[in-house]
Amino acid sequence: MTPLKILFLTAELAPFAKTGGLADVSAALPRFLTAQGHDARIVLPLYGRIAARHPEIVFTPVPELQDIKFTHGPHRVSFSVKTTPIPGSDTPAYFVDCPALFPRDGIYTQDPDEHLRFLVLTRAALEMCQRWAWAPDVFHLNDWHTAMLPLYLRTVYAWDRLFAHSKTLLTIHNLGHQGVFGAGILPELGLPDTALLHQDDLRDGRIGFLKTGLLLADRLSTVSPTYAKEIQTQGYGFGLDDVLRRRAGDLVGILNGVDYDVWDPRTDTLLAAKYSEKSLHRKEKNKEALLDALGLPYVKGVPVFGIVTRLSHQKGIDLLYDPLPRILSDHDARFVALGSGADEYATFLTGLAKRFPGKARYFAGFSEKLAHLIEAGSDFFLMPSRYEPCGLNQMYSLKYGTAPIVRSTGGLADTVQPFRASTGEGNGFVFEHYTGDGLHWAMTQALTTYATPKAWRTLQKNAMSADFSWEVQGPRYVALYDAMRPVAAGRPA
Ligand code: ADP
Ligand code: GLC
Repeated sequence: MTPLKILFLTAELAPFAKTGGLADVSAALPRFLTAQGHDARIVLPLYGRIAARHPEIVFTPVPELQDIKFTHGPHRVSFSVKTTPIPGSDTPAYFVDCPALFPRDGIYTQDPDEHLRFLVLTRAALEMCQRWAWAPDVFHLNDWHTAMLPLYLRTVYAWDRLFAHSKTLLTIHNLGHQGVFGAGILPELGLPDTALLHQDDLRDGRIGFLKTGLLLADRLSTVSPTYAKEIQTQGYGFGLDDVLRRRAGDLVGILNGVDYDVWDPRTDTLLAAKYSEKSLHRKEKNKEALLDALGLPYVKGVPVFGIVTRLSHQKGIDLLYDPLPRILSDHDARFVALGSGADEYATFLTGLAKRFPGKARYFAGFSEKLAHLIEAGSDFFLMPSRYEPCGLNQMYSLKYGTAPIVRSTGGLADTVQPFRASTGEGNGFVFEHYTGDGLHWAMTQALTTYATPKAWRTLQKNAMSADFSWEVQGPRYVALYDAMRPVAAGRPA
């Protein structure tokens, strides 16, 4: 196959700028592509907080991409591009340095120019291609932040034959975030006309970035096969199910991969003790270290429930409200939580730790090290999500021999199969309906299995043998990109 040229546009990239799984995928998929000999390049904002949090990182200016200026609506935009190696990856990452827009406290903001921040990122990517005289085969766009690129390709950049054969793939990582702005931002889109915008929305006073992309991108994907089906239904479509049904023929679900260079208990340097399926007794040392770090007493044989999550509506934290205190009252068990986000959920977790001292702890914040230790030191990992496009943590859990307890939705349904002691099949605990009783049932099943050493050992073995690596998932993207190329470019006619 002729090597592919892929420009990967993203708002997050691990380890530089991360709030969730998008950052992990943005690092791992392009890395896979580069390792396969493709020309993959990543574009993201140079957020102020990257340097603030990692003063040790040295950014090098990219000589041909300095002081680029373009007119965008009423604005004269000026940006430069810097680069720095991504640890463990050969993919070049291009950080768009635009001091007027990106140095803010967060990756995402509630600032009145939030739309502009990501429009400029999108346009900067196109301007960079022009400077390089390099046209990607596929612009791979991710979520609402860069979903407007197909609109710009068809309007502001339509004159440029450089892009005549470039295609666009828009990946939905989370339909719950759509980048919907008031129609008052229209002049700030810098468009020659509004013909390609959704006219009803415009009349209703809205412009939706994700919706625009879903209508105009050549192809659409999302991050698991089940979520690809779910989003075409009213229950999961967040108002875009009709658009997605219309484009069903162009929509595919490709499960995310896991970066086992980062998430493998045999090599994980953030653990108290490395272990494999053959040395599972060493997993116990991580449990001890985890509980010790959080000030909870370790008792051999007492099981630990863990959770690492953004505290958002999506993640189903409210489903824990009833069953978790019941489980902690009725059983000798521990519960450890790591996460930040909405106050409501943080208040519940703080209250739980107060109510069950010695049994429950909540660490508020973001900690890579603790996230790894929870994966390794817990026996069960809770993901009671309302919806879950893919979910990475349940796949990490499987590798760490930690049984996921999940609701059957999205990528969770595609990766976790209910364990049945009678057949010895399955790798976790799955409940169907979004109810506290459903979750309570699954947690009880988990405790019962844990108390039966032979069954527990079988489950752990099943879990640890699963392979969700990018070596398995990456080729699906390669096939998709390749299928998008004009015949003559990719394959012999
Ligand atoms: P989402 O992207 O919806 O948040 P995923 O399961 O795909 O869900 O990915 C979440 C990623 O973010 C995982 O790598 C997880 O370990 C990480 N993560 C989430 N919250 C925290 C936190 N508070 N501290 C450290 N890592 C976190
Ligand atoms: C989103 C989804 C999550 C998915 C991640 C990476 O944040 O919530 O399920 O794994 O993106 O695709």
